[in-house]
Amino acid sequence: MQDGGQQVPSTEDGSEEEAIKQRKNGLYRNVSDELAESMRTGWADTELHDLKPIPQAAETAARRAGLSAAFPGERLVIPAGNLKVRSNDTDYPFRSSVEYAYLTGDQTQDGVLVLEPTASGHEATVYLLPRSNRENGEFWLDGQGELWVGRRNSLTESEKLLGIPAKDVRELPDALREASGPVRVVRGYDAGIEAALTDKVTGERDEELRVFLSEARLVKDAFEIAELQKAVDATARGFEDVVKVLDKAQATSERYIEGTFFLRARVEGNDIGYGSICAAGPHATTLHWVRNDGPVRAGELLLLDAGVETHTLYTADVTRTLPIDGTFTALQRKIYDAVYEAQEAGIAAVRPGAKYADFHEAAQRVLATRLVEWGLLEGPVGRVLELGLQRRFTLHGTGHMLGLDVHDCAVARTETYKDGVLEPGMCLTVEPGLYFQADDLTVPEEYRGIGVRIEDDLVVTEDGNRNLSAALPRTSDEVEAWMARVQG
Ligand code: GLY
Ligand code: MN
Ligand code: MN
Repeated sequence: MQDGGQQVPSTEDGSEEEAIKQRKNGLYRNVSDELAESMRTGWADTELHDLKPIPQAAETAARRAGLSAAFPGERLVIPAGNLKVRSNDTDYPFRSSVEYAYLTGDQTQDGVLVLEPTASGHEATVYLLPRSNRENGEFWLDGQGELWVGRRNSLTESEKLLGIPAKDVRELPDALREASGPVRVVRGYDAGIEAALTDKVTGERDEELRVFLSEARLVKDAFEIAELQKAVDATARGFEDVVKVLDKAQATSERYIEGTFFLRARVEGNDIGYGSICAAGPHATTLHWVRNDGPVRAGELLLLDAGVETHTLYTADVTRTLPIDGTFTALQRKIYDAVYEAQEAGIAAVRPGAKYADFHEAAQRVLATRLVEWGLLEGPVGRVLELGLQRRFTLHGTGHMLGLDVHDCAVARTETYKDGVLEPGMCLTVEPGLYFQADDLTVPEEYRGIGVRIEDDLVVTEDGNRNLSAALPRTSDEVEAWMARVQG
């Protein structure tokens, strides 16, 4: 079905010239005066009057206050982003920029938050597309019209929900062009807004704004931690769903697992925070296996790395490695238990005041020790760690910040993140793994094609950490018992 703004006009003589003439007639081409008049009238007033602010309105106001204090006297422009064309007249599902969602609690496409400098700080305005005009035909003839894309909040409704004055976004580019004074924009989301500012901004200053907003998210507030817990809880339900259908997956493919997890996300009104990794057998050794089109076989392992994203855009990121037939072989268990031991060491190193790097180093030491003990690497362990030789089998860092992005705070400076110190409220994954590639001739044949990762989501507390994903079993014995129970 094509939208009203993209109808190809039928012309009397079929000529290109006539078609162009009709396009120039604007929205009302091919519409009789009688139909136009009919569509203008007879619609009820649906304005919503009893709206309460969104639950996180106080938190978003506090975040804007922090941003205001960091950039006094400067106009700050934070776009939500625009739809991206998938093909012809279909678009990719829209996901707001995390910066806009973080500062407003809103996720509307084409929205823009502007912090206007004042004598005492900043005044925030959110620019949005208002409800469609019924007088000029926009609502039913334009591709953005509500008849095609669904009802939008009115500007007054948005003001009430977000606690931020709202204006028509179509006025913003001209207003930005005409405004004077220093300005910064978060780049990469809205080319139209960037074009309006092109003579007024520099890449370096804009990057400082983006970095600030990444670092501001390093420590989560109570609302964010509660949202992450919801995401993790929904993810745990999705993992249980997968365990229940492992027999069906064996009769089909990894796709059955992917679809089952996605179904859990969708039926609860959520989405997934990243492409689910449903890696059976040797696919478990491919870190980002998202093709999910391979066989699921008894006797092998399933590495399931998946996360539900809540409607506020916070995502879980959890991995469990499961014996597909419910029982680990002796070698699978040996490898699994080593990864578990490494994860325990990593989790124990997550506490306020500890260096961010500590949990990675603790986990790597355990894994290097086991690899030497098994004769897969030549010791001593200190030499292995110094040269990083264990990385042939451990492959990746042991964790990352988690939040609105699965790899959250990605542009925070090294000194505040990777070389920084843990603080209460930081949320991160601890996810060591061991991977023996199917074609790795340096390990005995029975190791080849085995991949194990265990990934949990933690929040740093005043005296240590809390494991948000503790509801899912972690030890090899617990995993087997859980699978037997769930499969009944
Ligand atoms: N799911 C990607 C990661 O664990 O970082
Ligand atoms: Mn993961
Ligand atoms: Mn992760």
